[in-house]
Amino acid sequence: MLSYRHSFHAGNHADVLKHIVQMLIIENLTQKEKGFYYLDTHSGVGRYRLFSDEAEKTAEYKEGIARLWEQTDLPAEVQRYINLIKKVNYGGKELRYYAGSPLIAALMLREQDRALLTELHPADFPLLRNNFKEYQNINTKRDNGFQQIKATLPPKERRGLVLIDPPYELKEDYDLVVQAIAEGYKRFATGIYAIWYPVVLRQQIKRMVRNLQDTNIRKILQIELAVRPDSDQRGMTASGMIVINPPWQLESQMKSVLPYLVKTLVPEGTGSWSVNWITPE
Ligand SMILES: C[S@@+](CC[C@H](N)C(=O)[O-])C[C@H]1O[C@@H](n2cnc3c(N)ncnc32)[C@H](O)[C@@H]1O
Repeated sequence: MLSYRHSFHAGNHADVLKHIVQMLIIENLTQKEKGFYYLDTHSGVGRYRLFSDEAEKTAEYKEGIARLWEQTDLPAEVQRYINLIKKVNYGGKELRYYAGSPLIAALMLREQDRALLTELHPADFPLLRNNFKEYQNINTKRDNGFQQIKATLPPKERRGLVLIDPPYELKEDYDLVVQAIAEGYKRFATGIYAIWYPVVLRQQIKRMVRNLQDTNIRKILQIELAVRPDSDQRGMTASGMIVINPPWQLESQMKSVLPYLVKTLVPEGTGSWSVNWITPE
């Protein structure tokens, strides 16, 4: 039973972190002429109305993207991300729409690049399909995203990014992610893999990281942004991205951007950030 709907959370601090990392990776992939493959295993619908009942109900975007929207001192990387979100808002001054990961990718893909977007939710999949039906080089599929890792890797381009962004509504997602990475890496060891995770209980993340270390995969970078310290109470206090085979600039780009993000997204002063190698080269 799938009850998670991303429309309640679109544009929150976790999306901001995820989509900046995603953008920086795709920027790197587009530096070479040769095309690449983008697989979004858990796509959501791709585009969100921030004035919808769902978004207004939780108002999470107000403590996320909205806090960056009108800043005039954005670091260059964050400015480029805001420029993407501006495109989705037709260049208007008001923040009305937010881009999910499929749309961030769609805005950046070139003719020679190709994407597959998978989504399992019976109500969200038709919305996703409809949002991308006009893109020649983007396919959508209602399927279990984890299986598409097995089914479509290695890509014929031999270059690419796999974004794995499950809801972690079911505890097994933490294990499924590690299994999927191990499967994917066996088939496509030079690919870039980016896994998003929420910090709800720190123990779950520690366990996932240990399991990743046990795969013996090298070059795994962990990037995290916390809005509050770890806690035993319910709720997400931080989120992170684990990136396998990150472009070499990603570490320094994130180290320079995260202090700004923490200061701006968490004016209350309870935030923090970290960038660590889970396993180095
Ligand atoms: C966190 S949201 C994705 C947000 C999106 N990646 C973005 O950044 O805009 C997770 C999505 O995964 C979907 N989902 C859950 N289990 C799935 C599975 N096994 N395969 C594909 N999609 C799944 C949910 O319906 C939900 O839309």
